[in-house]
Amino acid sequence: MKIDGTHYRTIWRGEGEASVVVIDQTQLPFRFATRTLNRWQDAEEAIRTMVVRGAPCIGATAAHGMCLALAEDASDEMLETAAKGLKAARPTAINLMWAVDEMLAAVRNRPRGERLEAAWARAAEICDADVEICRRIGAHGLKLIEQAAARKKAGERVNILTHCNAGWLACVDWGTALAPIYMAHDKGLDVHVWVDETRPRNQGAALTAFELGGHGVPHTIVADNAGGHLMQAGLVDLCIVGTDRTAANGDVANKIGTYLKALAAHDNDVPFYVALPYTTIDWTLPKGVGAIPIEDRSGEEVTHLTGRTADGRIETVQVSAPGSAAGNPAFDVTPARLVTALVTERGVCPASAEGLLDLYPERRG
Ligand code: MRU
Repeated sequence: MKIDGTHYRTIWRGEGEASVVVIDQTQLPFRFATRTLNRWQDAEEAIRTMVVRGAPCIGATAAHGMCLALAEDASDEMLETAAKGLKAARPTAINLMWAVDEMLAAVRNRPRGERLEAAWARAAEICDADVEICRRIGAHGLKLIEQAAARKKAGERVNILTHCNAGWLACVDWGTALAPIYMAHDKGLDVHVWVDETRPRNQGAALTAFELGGHGVPHTIVADNAGGHLMQAGLVDLCIVGTDRTAANGDVANKIGTYLKALAAHDNDVPFYVALPYTTIDWTLPKGVGAIPIEDRSGEEVTHLTGRTADGRIETVQVSAPGSAAGNPAFDVTPARLVTALVTERGVCPASAEGLLDLYPERRG
């Protein structure tokens, strides 16, 4: 996608044998900055501290982290150390584990002298494939928005609610949940997006709004708690969100607060769609509720807020009563029964084991 007229992906190879460049998402929406990663530990840190975030983007960064490790030392020991370190950077998004395993499979059985080149090639493939997958998710999801538009009276816009950021910044390009929205807008459909601010890290207010604004898509940021009211008032035609891990039965883990939106959507007969690439499906988990590991992050993300002051400085301030404890579970799991359908690169399916297996028959036992 474009920033100020220039097309960017979220990650690309830098100069030389050991250099990867990522967009520093902690600086957005106020400043466009990149970060150069030279060692696998830089990639691990970028993932852990959310310089990069969003399940597919985390996976792409980890894949490149494995290249950086091999550039330093192509030994088996290094492979194991980097793989273990990268996988531990964040626990919920399964794309991270998937990408590291893909890299191990691509290089493990090769002579040391061939490993680095093979690793760069596989990392590039993972990124190119992610772009194409997201484009296909967009095309399938577009049909759902078109169906919603067909149900509206002439001149009425389609109102879509989304949570967190599942746009191009969370992937390599396009995004998952936002790809259908971009395509609908580009096709001339009158869409408007309710953007949940997504406390505590504000991925909605900062990143989704930045993306949609950059693409010219009409949108309004709302407090996280506004969704139920908007749905009750008939102001939401459909919800669409991303996911960090989807269990084999269609339960989906996504940013904290997603479950509450799904409950409100269910109570108000608003379709609730979840968009995902196959790399987000954890076939080893028969169900997600109670089984998907939920990242616990620092309470400081709840007690403090970062923003821009009137004179342009970026500052972090405390917004809570000093001394009070704060809890910060970063994800929740929405049970499949609350999900109207899953939107994947292969098409749209019911959020159920059968629905997923119909789209991915090679996974049948
Ligand atoms: O903590 P984050 O910002 O990495 O969480 C991201 C999300 O929850 C996204 O919705 C999810 O990764 C899907 S991204 C296509």
